[in-house]
Amino acid sequence: MFQKGFLRQLGVLTVAVLGVTLSTVKAQSGEPIQPLPTNIKINDSIAALGKQLFFDKRLSVDDTISCASCHDIDGWGAEAKSVSEGVKKQLGERNSPTVFNSGLNFKQFWDGRADDLSHQASGPVVNPIEMGMPSWDKVLEKLEGDQEYQKAANQLFGSALTKDVIVEAIAEYEKTLLTPNSPFDRYLKGDAGAISDVQKKGYELFKSYGCVSCHQGMNVGGNMFQKFGVLEDIAMNDRSLSNDLGRYMVTNNEWDKRVFKVPSLRLATKTAPYFHNGSVPTIEEAVDIMIKFQLGRSVPQQDRDAIIKFLESLVGEKPKGS
Ligand code: HEC
Ligand code: HEC
Repeated sequence: MFQKGFLRQLGVLTVAVLGVTLSTVKAQSGEPIQPLPTNIKINDSIAALGKQLFFDKRLSVDDTISCASCHDIDGWGAEAKSVSEGVKKQLGERNSPTVFNSGLNFKQFWDGRADDLSHQASGPVVNPIEMGMPSWDKVLEKLEGDQEYQKAANQLFGSALTKDVIVEAIAEYEKTLLTPNSPFDRYLKGDAGAISDVQKKGYELFKSYGCVSCHQGMNVGGNMFQKFGVLEDIAMNDRSLSNDLGRYMVTNNEWDKRVFKVPSLRLATKTAPYFHNGSVPTIEEAVDIMIKFQLGRSVPQQDRDAIIKFLESLVGEKPKGS
């Protein structure tokens, strides 16, 4: 499954230094990144119900916030703020990741505390600073009289509208939110002219500098946890990026301090601001931070800029169902 040419390019040393096991790099025709799928199986009726729920502000305590309030579906599934504002204008502590392509991530949330989309969707509704419902029972009470929802639940799930129906339907909708056919995907599929020479160079640099040892696979990320500040202590920056202990708060394991899910870079050039606390406004600065703290080196600016051009080629079509 692993081709020698690619191994050489990546640099065995980089991989060893970062402690990333080779088996986590899935290679398809020698490449560590694979195109997004274009023919996923979706139950359209369930996804349609999920879409209605995703936009339904009644899922919040004072009917002001829906999932879409913090995940802008007309934009790129995220939001332009550093941290999200929930009910009663309360601010959270983390940046809202894009929901586009999120079904491809091996875990959900920055710290991976939810295993999948349906598990994830049960969180924000009863999170006191997001949608603020006191309990799921109260949500169901509120929606009990909605004949359209009850009818759909009955037809599609053979039951009344329950928490499980709601989260399953939302998850089905989110699965439709893919951004396929990016120039880079077309390039991977054999269209050599789909990306520019600078983007090709950027891709080679993305591999040779070792970005790909963490950001890889179909989603160019989203398939492993890594420490933020592997080679240089992240406390040495001035963006409060060391305050959040990340996965440690889920596992209480010392070695999980400041460990986060490696985010997908598919839409990185569209979804500023950056990192778990949204403290970094530009992609240039975000990549500089990666180079310093994850790779422990300096890189000529022209290489950094080529890498960013490559990241631009990862942006695909807006989802059809959105
Ligand atoms: C108040 C703003 C807000 C609302 C409302 C909200 N989210 Fe989020 N969402 C966030 C933030 C912030 C995170 C990251 C939190 C974290 O990692 O701890 C997140 C994370 C996610 C993720 C994880 C993506 C990934 O790649 O890890 C998904 C999926 C998601 N939200 C879907 C939803 C759904 C479905 C709803 C409605 C039921 C919803 N969100 C409501 C702000 C919000
Ligand atoms: C050792 C693993 C590792 C390496 C190597 C690495 N990254 Fe990251 N990257 C991460 C992690 C973990 C995060 C999330 C950090 C956080 O916000 O807490 C991240 C976040 C990012 C982000 C911000 C994404 C967002 O949506 O906020 C960008 C952009 C990025 N990386 C690009 C790169 C580039 C370009 C390289 C190579 C120069 C690189 N990374 C190398 C692990 C890595």
